[in-house]
Amino acid sequence: MIKNDLFLKALRGETVERPPVWMMRQAGRYLPEFMALKRKYDFFTRCQTPELASEITVQPIDIIEPDAAILFSDILVIPQAMNIEVQMKDGIGPWLPNPIRTPADVDWVIVPQIQDTLGYVMEAIKMTKEKLANRVPLIGFAGSPWTILCYAVQGQGSKNFDKAKGFCFTQPEAAHQLLQKITDTTIAYLKEKVAAGVNAVQVFDSWGGMLSPVDYQEFSWKYIQQIVDALKEHTEVIVFGKGCWFALKEMATSGATALGIDWTCSAQNARYLTGGNITLQGNFDPSRLLSPPAEIKKMVTQMINEFGKDRYIVNLGHGILPNIPVENAKAFVDAVKSYQS
Ligand code: CP3
Repeated sequence: MIKNDLFLKALRGETVERPPVWMMRQAGRYLPEFMALKRKYDFFTRCQTPELASEITVQPIDIIEPDAAILFSDILVIPQAMNIEVQMKDGIGPWLPNPIRTPADVDWVIVPQIQDTLGYVMEAIKMTKEKLANRVPLIGFAGSPWTILCYAVQGQGSKNFDKAKGFCFTQPEAAHQLLQKITDTTIAYLKEKVAAGVNAVQVFDSWGGMLSPVDYQEFSWKYIQQIVDALKEHTEVIVFGKGCWFALKEMATSGATALGIDWTCSAQNARYLTGGNITLQGNFDPSRLLSPPAEIKKMVTQMINEFGKDRYIVNLGHGILPNIPVENAKAFVDAVKSYQS
């Protein structure tokens, strides 16, 4: 039995005294304890070594005490397992030396055996569960197929992912083949994560908002829907689409348990677009954690009042930034814990 199951209760839509809170990218660069390990081990070593990945996952649980843990890993371990080389370069971020640009490139991409290629993730989950000792639930995650395609084709981060979009619009058949391979791999991967012990999964569509509403349906949503369909019998599924408010109505009836909201969409609008019955998660502007703690507390209280305390999970509208003082992150979590309706 998980001692603090507020997060699972909110997902199931049960009435709670206060909403649960966690932060996207809560295991990360704003924590001095994380930076100490970052100096010693390169990025993918941290991901691939269960002892390190589990330690990093639990750091924020010990330090700022949110109501859920999210496994330290990266969405880009999926393309790595599919035969696409991915490096993490200081100052640049993700770097793929051989990006996909042709149908022949897509032919080289494999749908791998998960235990052979990503078994280290399952080991990290088991070790994390031991370290958590049932304190809070553990969230597993994957990138959306579209967001993975963005990196696989662009070869690195981008302001507009022009090459990725160009690939979809000029070679749609190859693009759909690639998206389907990523989807099949992601479904198998998330099912293994559930078997290894995660209590919920989140799909990050970080770049869904790069697409027009029509293109979003064709190149992103169609594949996320397949993932939701395949996973919903096994676990709770949260879909976070950044900049995807235009798709909220359809997402709300997809079978997903909860939807992530970014900070450009108001609580009222998000509730209106989703029909008021589904659990929502979000949506504090990550830069607002730079405000003084007293102001953070005021704004968090207001945010909870606007979303309503039930069917709601407090989070940021995207990942926490590296320049956030730890005491401000703590103030965010504490503000939720001291919430009174
Ligand atoms: O939320 C958590 O604490 C779990 C850990 C997590 C990481 N990446 C660790 C990480 C999660 C959930 C991710 C997901 C991820 N990775 C996404 C989707 C979420 C989002 O923020 O949109 C994306 C787009 C990626 C790809 C990626 N990996 C980027 C863009 C970067 C940043 C590069 C940079 O230097 O700015 C990474 C690296 C990465 N992944 C870091 C962390 C803590 C920082 C680099 C490091 O630790 O060396």
